[in-house]
Amino acid sequence: MIRRVGVVGCGLMGVGIVEVAARSGYEVIVREINDELLAKGMDRLKASLRRGVERGKLDEAGREAALSRVQGTTVLADLAGVDLVVEAILEQMNDKKALMRELDRLVAPGVVLASNTSSLSITEMAAATGRPESVVGLHFFNPVPVMPLVEIVKGLRTSDEVVRAMREFAQSLGKTVVVARDTPGFIVNRLLIPYLLDAIRALELGVASREDIDSAITLGLGHAMGPLTLLDFVGLDTTYYIAEAMFAEFKDTRYAPPPLLRQMVLAGWLGRKSKRGFYEYQ
Ligand code: 3HC
Repeated sequence: MIRRVGVVGCGLMGVGIVEVAARSGYEVIVREINDELLAKGMDRLKASLRRGVERGKLDEAGREAALSRVQGTTVLADLAGVDLVVEAILEQMNDKKALMRELDRLVAPGVVLASNTSSLSITEMAAATGRPESVVGLHFFNPVPVMPLVEIVKGLRTSDEVVRAMREFAQSLGKTVVVARDTPGFIVNRLLIPYLLDAIRALELGVASREDIDSAITLGLGHAMGPLTLLDFVGLDTTYYIAEAMFAEFKDTRYAPPPLLRQMVLAGWLGRKSKRGFYEYQ
């Protein structure tokens, strides 16, 4: 029975997971590495809950109740008593493995350790723990309160029982579940990343302006966002890390980050979060 959920990382994805869990009645404890990042995450949570009220998705009492269920901390050991952990830290395998190792020591045997990774191997993370059957991918989409999908990723040693428990958990958050094998990018990013990288290549080649590339896709295909807008939304650094991880695994140039993406990341143009990516933001 899951009642208390621990979330590690209160960035864009972590805070979304905190929000949907708290709104669905779970007690949530979220760990960030320092007070500044934690405060930023909490501000983001409050703003999103307010937006939810403005859009009629929850009432004032629901907003307050959700907020009261969330506790922030900078101490990982505070997650010791949770019934499920979802990690949403940076897309770096070494960091994820070190965290999984620590969590394995910290939380009770049988507690599921889920990763929100977009592309890294669940089997590899699981191997860093003494409970590989309880390590699983739980991949949410940005913005988490709005996007209805969760991809469950079954590592080589993940048990069917854990997949079943995570399906129930994701459904209790109002999400629809798809299950994928542990292969880089799973379902969504396997298809999305080459498409996004191709849009950057089209811009590099001067095929069309940024606006025309995006309009072609929103108006011609009915997507909510064009690829360059979506890249800014997801974060160019995140996209770069995902592409690098997929390229390292597949050795297929479809996943190789184009030079412009790497340069923009090095320049600090990370998309919306840094107020500049393919577009400029206020
Ligand atoms: N809480 C609850 N609901 C909210 C909300 C909140 N904080 N904020 C907005 N909403 C709801 C709105 O009420 C609205 O619902 P309705 O249609 O029932 O009225 C819906 O969300 C859309 O909100 P808005 O009208 O404010 O916004 P837009 O219509 O401009 O849509 C968007 C914004 C949902 C971001 C849309 O542009 C979109 O779908 N973009 C594509 C996003 C996408 O592709 N995400 C996946 C990225 S890939 C990823 O995350 C994987 C990673 O591994 C890379």
